[in-house]
Amino acid sequence: MQTERIRVMQKTMFTLFGILIGIFHGISQDAKASKKAFIDDLLSKMTLEEKVGQMNQYNGFWDVTGPAPEGGDAARKYEDLRKGWVGSMLNITSVAEVRKIQEIALESRLGIPVLFGQDVIHGFKTISPIPMAEAASWDLEAIEASAALAAREAAAAGINWTFAPMVDISRDPRWGRVMEGAGEDPYLGSKVGAARIHGFQGASLSDPLTVAACVKHFAGYGFGEGGRDYNRVDVGLPTLHDVILPPFKAAVEAGAATFMNAFNDLNGIPATGSTSLQRDLLKGAWGFDGFVVSDWGSIGEMVPHGYVQSLKEAAQAAVVGGSDMDMESMAYVNHLKDLVAEGSVPEALIDDAVRRILHLKYDLGLFEDPFKYCDAEREKEVLSDPKRLEIVRDMARKSMVLLKNEGNLLPLPKSGKSIALIGPLANDKDSPLGSWRLKAEPNTAISVLEGLGAYSGNTLKYEQGVRLTEGTPLFHFETKINTTDRSGMDQAVALAKSSDIVVMVLGENGFQTGEARSYSNLDLPGLQQELLEAVYAVNPNVVLVLMNGRPLTIGWAAEHVPAILEAWQPGSESGNAISEVLYGDYNPSGKLPMTFPKSTGQIPLYYSRTATGRPNNPGSDLVFWSHYVEGNEPLYEFGHGLSYTTFTYSDLKLNKTEIALDDTLDVSVTLSNTGSRKGKEVVQLYVQDHVGSRTRPLRELKGFQLVELEPGSSKKVKFQINKEELSFYTARNLIEAEPGAFTLYVGGSSSAQLSTGFKLVK
Ligand code: NOJ
Repeated sequence: MQTERIRVMQKTMFTLFGILIGIFHGISQDAKASKKAFIDDLLSKMTLEEKVGQMNQYNGFWDVTGPAPEGGDAARKYEDLRKGWVGSMLNITSVAEVRKIQEIALESRLGIPVLFGQDVIHGFKTISPIPMAEAASWDLEAIEASAALAAREAAAAGINWTFAPMVDISRDPRWGRVMEGAGEDPYLGSKVGAARIHGFQGASLSDPLTVAACVKHFAGYGFGEGGRDYNRVDVGLPTLHDVILPPFKAAVEAGAATFMNAFNDLNGIPATGSTSLQRDLLKGAWGFDGFVVSDWGSIGEMVPHGYVQSLKEAAQAAVVGGSDMDMESMAYVNHLKDLVAEGSVPEALIDDAVRRILHLKYDLGLFEDPFKYCDAEREKEVLSDPKRLEIVRDMARKSMVLLKNEGNLLPLPKSGKSIALIGPLANDKDSPLGSWRLKAEPNTAISVLEGLGAYSGNTLKYEQGVRLTEGTPLFHFETKINTTDRSGMDQAVALAKSSDIVVMVLGENGFQTGEARSYSNLDLPGLQQELLEAVYAVNPNVVLVLMNGRPLTIGWAAEHVPAILEAWQPGSESGNAISEVLYGDYNPSGKLPMTFPKSTGQIPLYYSRTATGRPNNPGSDLVFWSHYVEGNEPLYEFGHGLSYTTFTYSDLKLNKTEIALDDTLDVSVTLSNTGSRKGKEVVQLYVQDHVGSRTRPLRELKGFQLVELEPGSSKKVKFQINKEELSFYTARNLIEAEPGAFTLYVGGSSSAQLSTGFKLVK
C-alpha cells in the first residue's frame, strides 16, 4: 500500500513538473528541466543503500552468460530486489518473467523500476546473420533494419536494454569474438556501429518497441594478446587512438545510451578500473552522459588481475574509475556503503552514477509505466510477425561474399543438372544461428538442404560425409570436434563422383565462435579438409560454401576449388539466402570486413599496416626486407568480394590538387557495370598520407558507397574528403591533420589501383 502511494505520488509529480515547467520554457528545455527536477527529487529521497542498489545488476535465475559470483543465490537476489537494492537484471526474457520481477521491485520503499538487459546481439528470436557478416554487406540501411527488428522483438518480450553493439576492432581471427564485431577497420566499424545504435534505439527510447544500446567493450578488448579471449592488451598510443577508439567515439555521437567496459587490462590497467578511459575520455572529453556498466564480473576480476587485493578494493577502483553499474560481481552492493562511510569513495560519485542510471529509466518511460514493455498480446504479435523473416533473409543475402568464381561455375544452372550436396553443415539447422542466439529455438534455421530443395529443376542428393562435432554443442561448454569417425566419407565421395556439380558446406559449428572461443589453428576443423580433398579428387566441379564466424585459413581450397562463397553464420533464413545466391536470384555484393590470412602465423594481418623501414622489395633475391619467407600477402584482402557481373573504375577526378585545412576535396569516379547482370558494388575510397609526425598506414578506408547498376550502365560516384578524414593521432598527441602529400585510391577492394594525388596545405 505504502509503495503504491509513493508510486502514485511519483507519477503525479512526474506529470506536474512537466506541466508547470512547460508553461515557462520551450518544449525541449521543458522536457530536460522536468527530467532533472524529477531525478533530483527522487535522489533526495534515496538512502545510500538504495542509491548503491541502483548500481547493482544481477543475472536472472535461468539463463547464465558467465560464472556466478559467490553468495549470489536466488534467495539473496529476491531479497535485494524487494529492498530496492537492484537497479537492473539481465537475462530475464519474456513478458511474464519481466512482469514478475518488476512487481517485486515495485514493492520496495521507493518502488523504482528495474532495467532489463540482455545480449540481443544479432536478433532475439528471429536471428539475423552474425554482426561480422552484417558488416560484410557494407549496407548501413539493411544493418539498421536488422537491429531495429532485434529491438522490436526484444522490447516486445519485456527487454529494454541490449548489450550491443560490440564495436571492438580486431585484427586477430583467432579471437572468437570477431564474429560479434565489424572486423578490422575503424572507419567501417564506426559506420556499422552507428547504424546498429540507430536501429536499436530508433527515433526515441520512449517508443515501446525500441531498446537502449550498450556499446562495448570499452576498450581494447579486440586486441587481446595472441587472440586469446580475456587476455592482456598492450597497445601503443597510435593504435589506441587511431584504431580502437574511433568507433566508440562515433557511438557517443550516434547517441548510444550506455557503454560496457571490458574484461582486459589495457597497458596494465584493467579497463573496468580505468579513470583515464572512463572518466577523462568517455565522460570527460567526449561528453558522454549515459552510464557505464561493468562486464560480467569484471569488477571482481580486478582481484585475479592482480590490480587490487579484495572485492572491496575492486569496488573502490571501479567506482572511482567510472564504472556506474556492477554486473554480477556483488562488489558494489556488498561494499560501497562502507567505502563511502569510511571516506574512501565520495558520495558525489555515487550520486553521479545513480543520476545517469535514473536518466535512462526516465527516458525509457519506466517511471511513467514500469510495465511498459510487458504487453503479452504485443509479445505474441511481434514475435510471429511474418515480415520478420524477410528482414533477416534480406540481411543474409546481402552479407555473403563471393571469394572466388573460376570459370563462372556460379551461379548454378537452374535445370538439367545433378547436384550433390555434401558436408557436415549442409543439413545443420542450428549452426547458422551462431552462438549468441539466446532466445531462438535450437535447430530452427533453414538448412542449405531445405533451401536448395526449393529449386526443383535439378536433381539434388545429400550426403553428410563427416560429422563436425561430437555430442550436442552448447553455449557454456567447449565444442568437441569429431576427428576420428570417417564412416560417411565413402558415400559422399561416391555421390560426388556420380554428380555434375558438388556443393560442399563446410566451416565452423555455431558454437565454435563467440565468447571464449579462441583457436590457435584456423584450418577447416576436424575431418572437413580430408573430405574436401577426397571429393575434389573425384569431381573438381566443387562450389564451397563456407559457414563460419571468422576468417579461416583455406589456402588449399583457394588454390583448387573453383568457386567459394563465404556465407558466414547467416541466421534463421540461412539456407534460403544461400540458395538465392548460389542460383543467382541474388547477385552477391558483400565485401570482406576482415583480411583472410594464408596461415595463422601471419596474424595479425591487416590492410592498413605501415610500410616499415624495409618494405616489400619485389624482384630482389636479397633477404633484408620485412617479410615471411612464405610470403606476406593475404589469401583474400580486406574489401575483396566478387559479383556475377564485372565492374570497372575510370575517370578518377578531384576538384583541386591542393586543399587547405578547412577545404573540402570533391572526388568523383565513374563506375561501370561491364558484365551481363545487374549488380551492386561497394565503391571504396582509401587514403595514404605519405609522411607524418608518426608513421602512417599505407592506406586507410575513408569512404564507401553501395552502388547498383544495370548491365552496360555507368554512374559517377562522388565522395568528399575533409580534414576529419585526414586526421590522426600525431606526435603532438592530438587528433589533427598534417599538411603534406596524399594519395587517394578508389576501387572494389583495399588493393584498388586507380589513384591520384593531392596536397594538404596550411
Ligand atoms: C560477458 C560478455 O563479454 C558481454 O559482452 C556480455 O554482454 C555479458 N557477458 C553479459 O552476458
